[in-house]
Amino acid sequence: MRITIQQASPAQCQTKPADESKLVFGCSFSDHMFLMDFRSGQGWHDARVVPYQNLCLNPAAMVLHYGQGIFEGMKAYRTKDNHIHLYRPRKNFERMNRSAQRLCMPTMDVEDQLTILETLLRSDHEWIPKTRGSSLYIRPTMIASEPHIGVRPAKEYIYFIITGPVGAYYAEGFNPISIYVSDEFVRAVRGGVGEAKTMGNYAASLYAAEVAKHKGFTQVLWLDGVERRFIEEVGTMNIFFRTNDELLTPPLTGSILPGITRDSVITLAKHWGLNVQERPIDIQECIASIQSGAMLEIFGSGTAAVISPVGSISYKDTIYTVQDGGVGELSRKLHDEITGIQYGEKEDVFGWVHEVRI
Ligand code: COI
Repeated sequence: MRITIQQASPAQCQTKPADESKLVFGCSFSDHMFLMDFRSGQGWHDARVVPYQNLCLNPAAMVLHYGQGIFEGMKAYRTKDNHIHLYRPRKNFERMNRSAQRLCMPTMDVEDQLTILETLLRSDHEWIPKTRGSSLYIRPTMIASEPHIGVRPAKEYIYFIITGPVGAYYAEGFNPISIYVSDEFVRAVRGGVGEAKTMGNYAASLYAAEVAKHKGFTQVLWLDGVERRFIEEVGTMNIFFRTNDELLTPPLTGSILPGITRDSVITLAKHWGLNVQERPIDIQECIASIQSGAMLEIFGSGTAAVISPVGSISYKDTIYTVQDGGVGELSRKLHDEITGIQYGEKEDVFGWVHEVRI
């Protein structure tokens, strides 16, 4: 794959946040971005690293009308001895291809996607923060760019990657968040696009998220779209429940994002000998478990969120505090293990780290 590189001039360079320990998620962007075009019959072409810039889109671009848009979330980590790590990057690119297939968009060779990302990171490696706990967030995105107003899959697409330094996703950092169970709105239904990382899923989540925020909660816990009874995910992360004898998480039945951190949690927990069950979890079962004291901890998992402890759940106007509302033992162990592997401090037993040679 041939990738051209246009270096950003000093005037085109972005302003770096002054204090790496105070990075707000998703607010600043690095000097360069990757761009590539697709046309039906021609395939992917014009792979290029360019200065970070606005996109030029025809107002009839199909993504703007019919939502053919997908993305991924990844991070690059700088280790203490200055190595650059990606975490299970092929899993993101494989998921990107599954999302593309579901949305009738073109796929891309996984190794090519990795080469592209490595090339971009070589241009912007100085943007990868040095402070432990911060990283360079990576957002590979594909949109339908063909100007056309009839409803059908587009014949032209743009693939781009932007990156930017980030700290914790939630303002709470690693402190427990409170989540609000939505029994009015739903995020996705089986057979829909819930398992694809498509933009519309996030748009569909905004209204309920605003309702939750107004009520003082950080995030929404979604229930299944039919019975509004079985727990699905948190929209920005998958969800786990630790009881006396099990680590539970909802199964991947098509309406939940198949998280890469979710998979890491399951793999690590099994490796540590825990009884991990992927099975439907009734919200009433969850509440009963919290009330009886059997629920030891609840936490979310995601690339942006890493491991995020949940201190309380609000369901039908009652707030249920999980144990004492503090950080659970397994949440902390998983957080330390996963970030330890990502920052090259813990043994990478499963070969999850991909080092980028700068
Ligand atoms: C991620 O965890 O990277 C995500 O894409 C979730 C969210 C920030 C939209």
